[in-house]
Amino acid sequence: MEQRLITFPDGQQICPLGQGTYQMGGRRRSEEIQALRRGIELGLTLIDTAEMYGTEELVGEAVRPCRDKAFIVSKVLPSNASYEGTKRACERSLRRLGTDYIDLYLLHWIGRYPFSETVRALVELRKEGKIRHWGMSNLDVADMEHILSLPNGAECAANQVLYNLGNRGIEYDLIPWSERHRIPVMAYTPLGEGQLRNHKTLKEIARRHGATPTQVILAWLMRRPGVMPIPKASHMLHVEENYGSLSLVLTEEDWQAIDAAFPPPVRKIPLAGW
Ligand SMILES: NC(=O)c1ccc[n+]([C@@H]2O[C@H](COP(=O)([O-])OP(=O)(O)OC[C@H]3O[C@@H](n4cnc5c(N)ncnc54)[C@H](OP(=O)(O)O)[C@@H]3O)[C@@H](O)[C@H]2O)c1
Repeated sequence: MEQRLITFPDGQQICPLGQGTYQMGGRRRSEEIQALRRGIELGLTLIDTAEMYGTEELVGEAVRPCRDKAFIVSKVLPSNASYEGTKRACERSLRRLGTDYIDLYLLHWIGRYPFSETVRALVELRKEGKIRHWGMSNLDVADMEHILSLPNGAECAANQVLYNLGNRGIEYDLIPWSERHRIPVMAYTPLGEGQLRNHKTLKEIARRHGATPTQVILAWLMRRPGVMPIPKASHMLHVEENYGSLSLVLTEEDWQAIDAAFPPPVRKIPLAGW
């Protein structure tokens, strides 16, 4: 089966399944690094971190043997997102990651600094080659419209938001809007922090396909072009299982069963998140 890829506005393409790292870096650090490396080896090259997570050093170590294959995403905290603050935060992230460029650098969520200041810094960081792409996180349609209206705002290459079977609100407007503007949507907490997989509908669909409920959840999220889940898996077996979702093809009957168990939105629902 031909694998669908995520395409960024400049044409760069990557695998639609990434890897999260929130809450990594504890006692199992070296196993987590091995798990991330296994994911990259399988083609799950996008690795998501943030200055907030305290996992940038770990990510830097994980990708050291294969930096050119990896696609690193990091994020500036809103409290640092002034023009100067964004530039300084990026330099600190680069040092912690041990790399000279970040593939995609996001504003983590909306804060007190005007978007115009943050975006001006992001555009300059891109010109300087310190970041390859920039984007946003936790922004709903109106704020994304604002970003696109700014000078060079059309460079915005992604929006990372909460999206899983229990939180389908963005299907009402943000996903269609993002598709129209060809801006990839990165789905965070795609597994509902691991809780969704016990649902009986998902177990039943998984059984029909000889798959697992987690693979059903991820295949369902990747059904739309431009949506990219970034599950965090600190166990190598979980990474391998998640990788299996790329070859799972759900049927019309599966879509209907999922919609009955997790109804899609019928009106605007404000963006959910942390
Ligand atoms: N931009 C933002 O504001 C924002 C907010 C939240 C998260 N994020 C990003 O999104 C990433 C993912 O979200 P998340 O960490 O909140 O939750 P998640 O990916 O929905 O769930 C993570 C949990 O699922 C488990 N898991 C993974 N694969 C599994 C499998 N195949 N079978 C069973 N369990 C499995 C993990 O276990 P193990 O670790 O034990 O393998 C972990 O306990 C984060 O790590 C972070 O990078 C971004």
